[in-house]
Amino acid sequence: MTLLEVVELTKRFGGIIAVNNVSFKIEKGEIVGLIGPNGSGKTTLVNLISGYYKPDGRRIIFEERDITNLPPEKRAKLGISRTFQNPRVVESMTALLNVAYAILGTRGEKMSLAEAGAEAMYYLEIFDLLKKRDTLAKDLAIYELRLLELARALATEPKLLMIDEAMAGLNPAEADNVVRVIERIREEFDLTIIWIEHVLRVLMRSVERVLVMDEGRLIADGPPEEVTNKPEVIEAYIGAEEEV
Ligand SMILES: Nc1ncnc2c1ncn2[C@@H]1O[C@H](COP(=O)(O)OP(=O)(O)OP(=O)(O)O)[C@@H](O)[C@H]1O
Ligand SMILES: [Mg+2]
Repeated sequence: MTLLEVVELTKRFGGIIAVNNVSFKIEKGEIVGLIGPNGSGKTTLVNLISGYYKPDGRRIIFEERDITNLPPEKRAKLGISRTFQNPRVVESMTALLNVAYAILGTRGEKMSLAEAGAEAMYYLEIFDLLKKRDTLAKDLAIYELRLLELARALATEPKLLMIDEAMAGLNPAEADNVVRVIERIREEFDLTIIWIEHVLRVLMRSVERVLVMDEGRLIADGPPEEVTNKPEVIEAYIGAEEEV
């Protein structure tokens, strides 16, 4: 079953075409890498799918429903969730409350803060953050913030989870742990995942399919080995350093 379909998606910022006529489908249960040089449009694509930006062209279909004009909160309720490249936690709140408010934001109609807090504990535990539950987000290490971002995203009970660089700023051991936890939640929660990462070495091991963007366009879509051997992909990456 197709979970997500984007059709000729375009987004302009002034003279820049950040996303240029991009089309693809994602089947339920797939784990798909999204790569491309800096500024190629990856985050903008995630912002379009999650509803933070309105596209200038064409449409987005989720579970056979046109969601192009739905606001982000409605899309979150349908099961579209994402993490932010720069963690967007509330710094003055504890780890626990950050997750609790994510739960209330998407599923809160019939839930008290205390109930959301109890449920938040469950998500903190999955990411080994229980011991940090009373720590203010501003006092967390970058590794813990990345995990907290994932906990918040998972706590909304998504069908589609979009991860925007979960490993930036982490050392190799921390990055390996993040990969392991993503693979685990994928299994346990039956997720479909779009995963942006600059650390290709790691991404290539974990995903079955890779989308490659360059200057707003989708230039390749296929299995990792096949895609990374395409001349246009190699060309796009010349001069673009891998970070780990
Ligand atoms: N809100 C915005 N206003 C103006 N220009 C923007 C905005 N967001 C993105 N852009 C531009 O759109 C292009 C694509 O940016 P985007 O952040 O999507 O790239 P990216 O592939 O995520 O890059 P990175 O790997 O550095 O995260 C860039 O030229 C960027 O400067
Ligand atoms: Mg980005």
